[in-house]
Amino acid sequence: MKVFVTRKLPGDVLKPLLESEHEVDVFEEDRTMEPLEFLERARGAEAVLTLLSNKIDGEVMEAIGPQLKLISNYAVGFDNIDIEAATNRKVLVTNTPSDEVNEAVAEHAWALILALARRVVEADESTRRGSYKGWEPGIFLGRSLMGKTLGIVGLGRIGTMTARRANGFGMKILYNKRSRDEEAESQLGIGFADLDTLLQNSDFISLHVPLTNETRHMINAETLSKMKEGSFIVNTARGACVNESDLVAALRDGKLAGAALDVFDNEPNINPELIAMENVILTPHIASATIEARDKMGSQAVSAVLNTFSGQKPDNLVNPDVWQQ
Ligand code: GLV
Ligand code: GLV
Repeated sequence: MKVFVTRKLPGDVLKPLLESEHEVDVFEEDRTMEPLEFLERARGAEAVLTLLSNKIDGEVMEAIGPQLKLISNYAVGFDNIDIEAATNRKVLVTNTPSDEVNEAVAEHAWALILALARRVVEADESTRRGSYKGWEPGIFLGRSLMGKTLGIVGLGRIGTMTARRANGFGMKILYNKRSRDEEAESQLGIGFADLDTLLQNSDFISLHVPLTNETRHMINAETLSKMKEGSFIVNTARGACVNESDLVAALRDGKLAGAALDVFDNEPNINPELIAMENVILTPHIASATIEARDKMGSQAVSAVLNTFSGQKPDNLVNPDVWQQ
C-alpha cells in the first residue's frame, strides 16, 4: 500500500511506518507543502498522513484518486478536511486527540492567561531593553486571578482540563456548551451560562470550541461588545473563531484589557495591528507543542495508517459510518 506523509515529524514516530512493508513517501523538506505540490505527490496514495496546514477538500481527494482509503490527520482539529466529501467518497478520516495533547493545550491556555494577567511578556521585553532601574511600586501592575471569573467557551476535553486548573487559582468558572454537562458541573464546581451571560460576567475568556459554521467568527463586534469592560480573551482553539479586526477594535477602545492568541484567522498571516499592540500576546500555534503530545500524535497518526492497512478499525475515526460500510 502507498502512504504519503506531507512532512517529517518530530521524534521517531514514523519509524514503524518506514519499517513496514508499505511504500512510504515522506516529503523531505521542512516546510508546509504547496497545494499543487501536494496533489502531485499524493496522487495514487491509499493513505495520506496530513497536517492541519494541508487543506483537503473533495477536489483534492478526487485528484489523489479513487484508491484513497484514509486521511490520517496529525491534529486534534480536522477543520482542514472536508469531512462530508470524505464520507461521500468512503474515505476514512482520523485525528489525534489524547490526554497528552489535550492537557498540553490546556496548559498553554493557562500559560497565556497567566502571562496576560501578570504582563509577563511585556515585562520581559522591557527588562531586556534595560528599562529596569530598581524596584518600583507602580510598574507592570497586573490583575490577580483569585476570585475572578474564568469563562470557558466549549467544554469538551480541552475545555474541561482548562477548567480543572482554574480551581487551583481560586477562580469562579462559567462554561458554555451546546448541551449542559451536569456531571462536569458537580465534579469541577463550574456553572453553566448561556453565551451572553458568560461574556457579561467573565474576567477572562478562553475558547475551546472546534471550528464549525456555528463557531466561525463567534467572537465579533457584537459578542465583544457584551464582554466585561477590561476583560481578557485567550484563543488556543482556531483563529477563525475570532473576527480579528473586531478584536483589534475592542482592544483599541479599551473594552478588552488584553488578548492572547495562539491561532490566527489566516495562518501564517497575522493582522499587523495585533502585532503592534503591547497588550496582545502572540504564540505561533504551539499549544500542543510538547514532546509528550507530539510523540502521542505521531504514534496515533501512524497507527491509524497501519491498522487501516491491516483491516483493523483505526482509533479516533472522525467519520465512523464509513467503516460500517
Ligand atoms: C492543533 O491545533 C490541533 O488541532 O491538533
Ligand atoms: C475542543 O478542542 C474540545 O475538545 O472542546
